[in-house]
Formats: sequence, C-alpha cells, structure tokens
Amino acid sequence: MENIIEIKHLSKSFGSHEVLKDIDFSVQKGEVVCIIGSSGSGKSTLLRCVNLLEKPDGGEIIYQGENILDDKHDVYTYRTHLGMVFQQFNLFNNLDVLSNCMVGQQKVLHRSEKEASETAIKYLKTVGMEDYIHAKPKQLSGGQKQRVAIARALSMEPDVMLFDEPTSALDPEMVGDVLKIMKELAESGLTMLVVTHEMSFAKEVSDRVVFMDQGVIAEEGHPDQIFNTPTQERTREFLSRVLTKN
Ligand SMILES: Nc1ncnc2c1ncn2[C@@H]1O[C@H](COP(=O)(O)OP(=O)(O)O)[C@@H](O)[C@H]1O
Ligand SMILES: [Mg+2]
Repeated sequence: MENIIEIKHLSKSFGSHEVLKDIDFSVQKGEVVCIIGSSGSGKSTLLRCVNLLEKPDGGEIIYQGENILDDKHDVYTYRTHLGMVFQQFNLFNNLDVLSNCMVGQQKVLHRSEKEASETAIKYLKTVGMEDYIHAKPKQLSGGQKQRVAIARALSMEPDVMLFDEPTSALDPEMVGDVLKIMKELAESGLTMLVVTHEMSFAKEVSDRVVFMDQGVIAEEGHPDQIFNTPTQERTREFLSRVLTKN
C-alpha cells in the first residue's frame, strides 16, 4: 500500500496546552479515514497541522518520501496537493459559484480560463450544482454552499481531501445530501481524511476509524472493530455517549 501522507511524532501546543501529543498515523492512497472524538480532543488541530494551517511544534509529515516540515521543503506546492473543506464553507461571497471554483485553479495551478471553467463545471456536476454556476453564495442554502465548497476543492484535483466536520453547520435536512456526495466520492476511490460526528457515515463509509482523546490517538481500526468491539474504555465511553444521543 502506498502512503499518501505519513505523520510521525507530531506535536502541537498552544501556550502550555499540549493539544497534540506524539501523533503517529498515515493515510494510504484510496483510503477513507474518519477521525472521531469529543470536542476539544484535537481533531481540527490535527487536520490543520496536516495542511499546515497550523505549524506543528515537532514531528514529521512525510509526503512523497520527503518531510515537508524540513525548512528546505516547498510548503506552497505541498498545499496545492491537499483539498480542504471546512465546517463554515469559506466561499468567496463576492464571486459566483463558477468563479469560486475557478480562482484557485487559475491563480495557483495557472490553468487557462477555458480549462479552469471546464474543470469547475465537471466537478459542479459531480456535486449536482451545475445549474447554479451564476448564483452568488448568499443565494444558496447551507447544503448547496457546502456542495460548491466540495466542488471547489475537487477542481484543484488534490491527492487527498480533508474534511473538517463538513455537515456540522448544516440544517438537519441538508446533511443527507452532503453525506451522499461524500459517500459517492469515497466509492470513486478518492483519498479522504474526514473529521466527523456522523457516526453512521464513519461506520458505513470509512476504511478506518481513528478515535482521538485529549490529544492522542486512543484507538484506531476497522469501523466494525471500533464500533462493535472497541478495546479501550474511553472509546466505549465516547461511543455510548454519542450513539445514545441519536
Ligand atoms: N488557535 C488556538 N489557540 C489556542 N488554543 C487552541 C487553538 N486552536 C485550538 N485550541 C485548543 O486546542 C484544543 C483542541 O482543539 P480542536 O483541535 O479544535 O479540537 P476538536 O476539533 O477535536 O474539537 C482545544 O482545547 C482548543 O481550545
Ligand atoms: Mg474541530
């Protein structure tokens, strides 16, 4: 199996608060990994360290055989290979849907307008938003905005897509649409690292589940193992808490 990203001994503190403690983990090509855990356990910080929105304090992030935390490494190029989808969409509100999906391709990948537009439309079709290319974000529902945000990230044709609780800010009736698209992407072979509190998604769609607790990976494994026969007491506690809520 080919590792897309391998993380070794990653650590991150904010002041005296050690948020990530010696994290080791990897994502393989074509794999769908879901990260679950309580609020504050460090899930977003881990994702933000992977794409260098936060600078780790120590450890290594190995991508294509090189530690991208080495000073000499080209962080900018590395980041163009990662797609990121946030809870809060982060669309450009002054740009229409098509332009939102073109701007990164043109500015960062230097694609022509024609190529950027064709690529954007291809991925807007993937997420079922091709009828809205001239709409502005404010005219869209939350679920539609998130589908555009997914198309925008896909338009960069990244090696791996990172999702940070992509359905947490959505009205309940829109969650299903977004999860359905993410499931289709997973089935298409896309490599995905997904922070989620949607336990049924993690159980059904992921190849591997990582349970984080207080800055460490407390347990990881196949979803059947994590959900049916967790070995750690804190995994059992977490699951009984979140699964009885639904
Ligand atoms: N920029 C920051 N400055 C200070 N503390 C932060 C910052 N970002 C996150 N934290 C803290 O790090 C811990 C982990 O946060 P986070 O990674 O967002 O957890 P999760 O995504 O699992 O809810 C929390 O205690 C949070 O308050
Ligand atoms: Mg978070």
